[in-house]
Amino acid sequence: MGLNMFNFDYYNPTRIIFGTERINDLDNYVPKNANVMITYGGGSAKKFGTIDEVKQALGSRECIEFGGIEPNPHYDTLMKAVEIVKRENIDFLIAVGGGSVIDGTKFIAAATYFKGDAWESWINNQPLEQVLPLGCVVTLPATGSEMNGTAVISNTALKAKLSHKHPLLFPRFAILDPRKTYTLPTKQVANGVVDAFVHVMEQYLTYPVYGKVQDRYAEGLLLTLIEEGPKALTEPDNYNVKATIMWSATQALNGLIGVGVPQDWASHRIGYYLTIHHGLDHAQTLAILLPAVLDVQRETKRLKLLQYAERVWGITQGNEEQRINSAIQLTREFFESMGLPTYMRAYNIPESAIDDAINYLKRFNLLPLGEHKDITAAEARQILSLSY
Ligand code: NZQ
Ligand code: ZN
Repeated sequence: MGLNMFNFDYYNPTRIIFGTERINDLDNYVPKNANVMITYGGGSAKKFGTIDEVKQALGSRECIEFGGIEPNPHYDTLMKAVEIVKRENIDFLIAVGGGSVIDGTKFIAAATYFKGDAWESWINNQPLEQVLPLGCVVTLPATGSEMNGTAVISNTALKAKLSHKHPLLFPRFAILDPRKTYTLPTKQVANGVVDAFVHVMEQYLTYPVYGKVQDRYAEGLLLTLIEEGPKALTEPDNYNVKATIMWSATQALNGLIGVGVPQDWASHRIGYYLTIHHGLDHAQTLAILLPAVLDVQRETKRLKLLQYAERVWGITQGNEEQRINSAIQLTREFFESMGLPTYMRAYNIPESAIDDAINYLKRFNLLPLGEHKDITAAEARQILSLSY
């Protein structure tokens, strides 16, 4: 007899404002008397005019800008924004950028109300009673941060990159204008597609619990990303392709496909080590780790791997082992075709990274991992060795 779907609650308070010229709608969703901080990254939002559009839409509202939030946003930088927020009595945050700016802004929203040391409060999950309201204008479809309550923050001094989620961290609204993604470098387009793909896989490729709706929905997103991802690389200003990628990325991690089903997240947790210690982009770490996680966990993931092979890759020939091997190989080839290598050595990472990664996972109490919590240090080592 099969397992039952798990009980769940689903609540997503983020308003999605999708389509062309929707930045003007900011006027409807930011209080008229708000004292706004607009946050952004290294300058793309400024260079391509998005910050100006946001300011124009805000009209006569008071607003200040805070730029310089890095990819994999740094705690120290964000704390500078927290100081300004407190000093200037900011009461609304608008993040303009990709996952890093949105995550960083969520941290600012929370840290403004932390008591005591902000990093300790963050990593120890200090209960949040209040956060500043925030909205976002998305310029890079990838993380789903615009419609979830998660933020991933890096502390470079401590060499830590850690993820936290809280229901108060959902943005109030997210403006998704696909044209804002036309200026993305090809590498970031590819990163976004792979990140969204792996988000679906971390919630889908586990074991069956009769989550038929979630499965079909996840398979639809995977098929869409496989179909549209390569087009997004060669047709950077194809509206329909970019709109499809953008909406897929949001849905990949807005919680819906993950309700009532087991979730994995091993590739993400191990991947954070490769970013903080070796400087890889988030999606680059996932392209390396996911195929190895699927391979090492093939026994406990067997039924879903076979379903994935058939429904996503159309593999019906061969014995079970052969079908699973082909599905993992095609996943690898998809990532490679998007321009992301699937082995650590392609980035000249030393082999000592395998031991270092295990130590990292132990140091931050991240083990055991996986939907069965059966990825201990030994299995993590196997995964990392296979990824090398
Ligand atoms: O900083 P600027 O100058 O804006 O340039 C950025 C940055 O260099 C550039 N960019 C963004 N939009 C652009 C653009 N360049 C030209 N035109 C545009 N329209 O892209 C670069 C990467 O941006 P970033 O925000 O770092 O990328 P991404 O959206 O992939 O976010 C990655 C971060 O999100 C975290 C990751 O760990 C990483 O820290 N994640 C957050 C999650 C969440 N909150 O739910 C889940 C994910 O699994 C992920 O862990
Ligand atoms: Zn991710």
